[in-house]
Amino acid sequence: MAAASVSREAFGSRAGFILAAAGSAVGLGNMWRFSYQASEGGGAAFVLLYVVMTLVLGIPIMLGEFGIGRRGQRSPVGSLRRVAGPAWAVVGYGFAVVGVLILSYYSVIAGWTVRYAIEAIIHGFPEDAGTHFGKVASGSGAIAFHVGFMTVTVLVVMAGIKGGIERASLILMPALFFIVVGLAAWATTLEGGGAGYEVYLKPDLDELMNPAVWRAAAAQAFFSLSLGMGAMLTFASYLGDEFDMPESATIVAFTDFGVAFVSGLVVFPVVFSLGLQGAVGESTVGALFIALPGAFDAMGMVGHFVGLFFFIALAVGALTSAIAVLEVITASVIDEFGVSRRNAALGTAAVVTIIGILPATSLDALGLMDKIAGELLLLGGVLTIAIVAAWVARSTIQDELIKGASPFWAKQVPRIVLMLRYVVPPIVAIVLIFSVRETIAAVGKFIGG
Ligand code: TRP
Repeated sequence: MAAASVSREAFGSRAGFILAAAGSAVGLGNMWRFSYQASEGGGAAFVLLYVVMTLVLGIPIMLGEFGIGRRGQRSPVGSLRRVAGPAWAVVGYGFAVVGVLILSYYSVIAGWTVRYAIEAIIHGFPEDAGTHFGKVASGSGAIAFHVGFMTVTVLVVMAGIKGGIERASLILMPALFFIVVGLAAWATTLEGGGAGYEVYLKPDLDELMNPAVWRAAAAQAFFSLSLGMGAMLTFASYLGDEFDMPESATIVAFTDFGVAFVSGLVVFPVVFSLGLQGAVGESTVGALFIALPGAFDAMGMVGHFVGLFFFIALAVGALTSAIAVLEVITASVIDEFGVSRRNAALGTAAVVTIIGILPATSLDALGLMDKIAGELLLLGGVLTIAIVAAWVARSTIQDELIKGASPFWAKQVPRIVLMLRYVVPPIVAIVLIFSVRETIAAVGKFIGG
């Protein structure tokens, strides 16, 4: 065991770790889910609550994952076993299963973004975006792009932490920032975009008091920060003791919020300048692939270019997130079964690819998987992390988080752990109860047709 931890892979630089963690966080959730949640939840009211949730819930949970992972120096299975006791390994296996479920539909959606980008290069955006999306999201084409996306993902994960994940993040994340900021700058030139900014940036004070908006903001914060299935935990297991984890968590959280916020500065003016506002409120993934492509088509040549970059940014964000999910599953297999990285990555990716055929061919199945794995199970994971980090192994984790932290951040650690102990679990438990109810209703609807 000692030999294994000596030879464990590691990130080569601080920037590499931060960008890989930010890459996991920044994804489809930032570029679309955030915008429609904001439009549902009273624009700036939601944005404000989202920032509060990120600070109060997101950063403490992320630190819980970081602490467990670096202390354990293993995938979630081994780290939870080491930090909290053998029985907790079960939760680690649970995380790997959630990862399989999330990745199998996330890769399908990512495949659509790649397809839109490629089609934009070849012939632009479809005039009848709705019919076109129906074709993209069904049949052998959807399966083919899902398989293609998984192939790229597995190639990066096979190349390892430093040579694969870190290298890819160092290139892809700056590229994504550039594109999104460039698009937001362009969006300021749109005629009629002002109404979009107004809805996005002017708080609707009634919504600020609406518990449903609070819940949505909390759930969005967890999903967007990739918390609750051991992704941050696994990345932190490749860190040395000299890393300042509280500072890193804060940077990652604000980067994630920044990309979401700037994406909203693209989506809102584009949609409003074309009078498509009704489409933003539609919570289905379909809206992203129908309303916006329709808008890009209506804008002619400029829309063609802008849309191309928008979908490239989406695909890049999706790729770095998919890499993180596959790494959790792969690391679990490597650590627990002594399999080589190459075989572990190929084997787990094959399983994900096969399961993904279901959401690739059924939008209803995809939506249900998102509800169950992308929301309910993640919330359960978040609650478990808080309990392990702040109750079961509190002093161990607190010491771990102080290690490597600057004096300023070291002083914050006990406060953050207190939040993780008393503030986070009750809030998450409430959100979880509502999510259980909603999921049961969704399952009923799915079965009932
Ligand atoms: N955060 C990702 C996004 O915003 C999605 C996601 C949820 C994720 N859980 C994850 C990514 C775990 C990697 C690992 O799109």
